[in-house]
Amino acid sequence: MTPQKSAQTLTFLRRGQPVTLHHVAPDRTLLEVLREDLHCTGTKEGCGEGDCGACTVVLGEAVGGSKLEYKATNSCIRLAHSVQGLAVWTAEDIAAPGGELHPAQEAMVQCHGSQCGFCTPGFVMSLFGMYQNTKGGKGIDRTQAQVELSGNLCRCTGYRPILDAAQQMGALPLPAGCGVDEAATVTALKKLQPAPADNYLRPATLKALLQARATNPKAQVVAGCTDVGLWVTKMHKRFEQVLDVTAASELRRVENYPHHIAIGAAVTLTDAYAALVSERPPLKTFAQRFAGLPVRNSGTLGGNVANGSPIGDSMPLLIALGANVVLMRWDAKRGAITHREMPLEDLYTGYRQNVMKADELLCWIKVPRPVKGETVKVYKISKRFDDDISAVCLAIRMTVEGGTVKAVSIGAGGVAATPARARQTEAALLGQPWTADTVMAATAALRAEFQPISDMRASAAYRHVVLGNLFQRFWLESQGLDRINLESLTASDLEALA
Ligand code: FES
Ligand code: FES
Repeated sequence: MTPQKSAQTLTFLRRGQPVTLHHVAPDRTLLEVLREDLHCTGTKEGCGEGDCGACTVVLGEAVGGSKLEYKATNSCIRLAHSVQGLAVWTAEDIAAPGGELHPAQEAMVQCHGSQCGFCTPGFVMSLFGMYQNTKGGKGIDRTQAQVELSGNLCRCTGYRPILDAAQQMGALPLPAGCGVDEAATVTALKKLQPAPADNYLRPATLKALLQARATNPKAQVVAGCTDVGLWVTKMHKRFEQVLDVTAASELRRVENYPHHIAIGAAVTLTDAYAALVSERPPLKTFAQRFAGLPVRNSGTLGGNVANGSPIGDSMPLLIALGANVVLMRWDAKRGAITHREMPLEDLYTGYRQNVMKADELLCWIKVPRPVKGETVKVYKISKRFDDDISAVCLAIRMTVEGGTVKAVSIGAGGVAATPARARQTEAALLGQPWTADTVMAATAALRAEFQPISDMRASAAYRHVVLGNLFQRFWLESQGLDRINLESLTASDLEALA
């Protein structure tokens, strides 16, 4: 008997064909659905928290009418209903029907990119995402390969052969039946008619989203789910109802204004950081160090900010840049959307606590455009360079004119219960000459301003010391001493730096 379309029906496209699953609970992950319901066990579970990439799949979305956009993403922390209406490829979907390997797979074989093989399906899918986004793996250099594979960990093989595979797959032939027919996929996506699930709400407009928030105050709000997903996989939390903000068309945009850009709460970290980097190119390295690409492809800037983790990477930077957040709600009496705006640092009231009311959602992040003469630096200290969370993060925006500090804003992460603005340090700098003495006073102020705690990432003492050291690094870099030759320093130089 054909099952009735239920309110928990999930429909997506796989190998060009619609897949429809019934009775999918709102808190089931995509990985669970792939492995348990579809019995596709090629996609592996490693960490279950977005850190290892073993579960990587590629999602395809029709954008602008006829184009397909491909995003490698972690299926372990992605809620299954969030792929409603998208195309999904797993490691089992990319070889030709006759078994000939896709170039992403063949290159891994030829370059000896796999030993135990557990990580391999995830690597192959990240390679497949690169292959599709570069129109056949063309022109991939080592740096791009490293950046795009930063969310995939391999303990056996070592990365050289895998990076070789990334660079060599473009030279391999594409066997017949392997390629993605983009036009056919877009057409098939348009024909999908997902049934709205009443326990997984994913409104398509801002108004409908805010109305849904007002009428379903108990629903768990998610965006990219790269943190909430861990509440499911690690804390075994259950959600009876989920409100997903990522389909609201207005919030999927980055809007440009004369004095600021406005980043919608559903904009992925990949796209949000691309916008921030296009305004301030030196932020590129920091942007690439936010988790790994599959997390950045799902996670959103709005989610990172609303989540309010004291070690969230974005907030110190956004605080230093003077960002505001816009909270919105549906006012049923007036029949209209109302909003309020505040500096980002004022959003937080305590550890993962904020001022948002039950019917409010964080909808926009407004980031001022660069002003003439400003310097922006952001420093992230983590145990691993890639794919890791900050132990300490310090972001500084400063304008020095005529040797005097004319403007300064400083954001800090990992040193308090919330992301924080270093106001006392700013006060110690503003209007002062930009000299070693001022820097020493500001360093002391910065260390006195926060009382970090010890945890698995770093001790309180380490955080205390490194926070001040980062400010001194900023000073050295401002003096052109970022490539310092310690042997050339005199004793008094060293004393001044101590
Ligand atoms: Fe490790 Fe998903 S299982 S990232
Ligand atoms: Fe064993 Fe990568 S081949 S973890």
